[in-house]
Amino acid sequence: MRLAFLLGIALFIVALVTVVRGFVPAAETLAPGKSPQAMIELGRRLFYDQRLSANGQIACATCHRQELGFSDGRVVPTGATGVPLRRNTPGLFNSGELSVLTWANADIRRLEQQIARALFTADPPEMGVAGYETMAIDRLRTDPAYLHQFAAAFPADADPWTWQRITDALAAFVRSLAARNTPYDRYVYHGEDTALSDSAKRGLALFFSPGLACGHCHVDIAPPERATPPRWSDLTYVATGAGRSPDRGLAEQTGNLADAYRFRVPPLRNVAVTAPYMHDGSLPTLDAVLRFYESGGRQGGGAEPERIAARHPLIAGFVLSDDERHDLIAFLEALTDEESLRNPAFADPFPFDARTPAVRARSR
Ligand code: HEC
Ligand code: HEC
Repeated sequence: MRLAFLLGIALFIVALVTVVRGFVPAAETLAPGKSPQAMIELGRRLFYDQRLSANGQIACATCHRQELGFSDGRVVPTGATGVPLRRNTPGLFNSGELSVLTWANADIRRLEQQIARALFTADPPEMGVAGYETMAIDRLRTDPAYLHQFAAAFPADADPWTWQRITDALAAFVRSLAARNTPYDRYVYHGEDTALSDSAKRGLALFFSPGLACGHCHVDIAPPERATPPRWSDLTYVATGAGRSPDRGLAEQTGNLADAYRFRVPPLRNVAVTAPYMHDGSLPTLDAVLRFYESGGRQGGGAEPERIAARHPLIAGFVLSDDERHDLIAFLEALTDEESLRNPAFADPFPFDARTPAVRARSR
């Protein structure tokens, strides 16, 4: 009895900590000597600044475009040296809430880690800064706006012009990218019955139906435990059979055969604007994704027999009518926070002027 009571208290504390952690900004943004809002503003400018890359032609925003949920619309992007990357660019909304990052690397758990990779990795380069560290910082120093912004973001630093601080500021900006107000959220969590169309409501029922089981991996956590709106992923690594390239997914990082062709279950917030889909961008539309699941994870291409053999048992195929497929797409479209895609707080801060170094995403 007493034990059960103590256990209850312990569970309550764990639940409380989980909930509270969902609401407060990460501890590092609250550390003394840093100004959270100024860090976000600095990070935003850096995110859109091409001078941050070795060749002065690529910014984070080249591959992460706001109107596309901070993905890029390409099958796979090309980095600073023109070499294509191996995997599709994921969207960035709410990625500060994810405990594992990227398609298939369980060691990357913090935004700062992935941002340092984007800046410095060489196989192949993304921003390509490795070897050009001093040159890139010197370029930023010539901009009077940064002189003010670096000092405001890190008032306790004698010298805030470091890659550590650049990474911290970029991470603060990425953490601020929130998409929380979708028609689905309004319907389920704010009781707005008309927020979803009848078609999307039928799609919602299909999504969670045992026959399709989408909600098994793309979970919506039930309200009591829910500190933040659903991210539509249980963040496990699963083999679905998707992909045409020889990419072996998690196994490439862990070296463990059992991890072959497993990829992180992607969050589905704003998914309607982040096409093309899957780790290699091989499915161009949501319609193609649904047909892929209908076929039980068969897509053709290299290594198909091994990928099929590795599939999760829930990827077994099912039959949809055209109406049902239409309903499911209406549901997936209701996971878009339209306002987040236009929110000026996340937009390019450089004045519209051809001579500025910022990315002109719309003109690309
Ligand atoms: C050349 C294109 C490109 C550039 C430039 C780029 N990224 Fe990315 N980004 C990607 C790709 C591709 C991935 C997925 C990598 C993987 O899964 O291995 C990614 C993943 C991420 C993730 C993890 C998202 C998730 O859901 O796990 C974050 C965060 C991120 N990038 C932030 C940034 C920031 C900040 C910058 C600028 C410093 C940047 N990226 C520059 C292409 C790019
Ligand atoms: C067994 C777990 C599992 C089930 C069940 C599942 N998915 Fe997925 N889903 C994944 C994984 C893993 C990926 C990424 C696969 C890859 O890139 O190789 C994915 C990718 C997707 C994508 C592409 C997202 C992007 O950003 O590229 C969409 C859309 C999607 N699933 C929707 C659905 C729908 C709709 C269903 C039900 C018909 C469903 N999923 C069932 C695990 C699952």
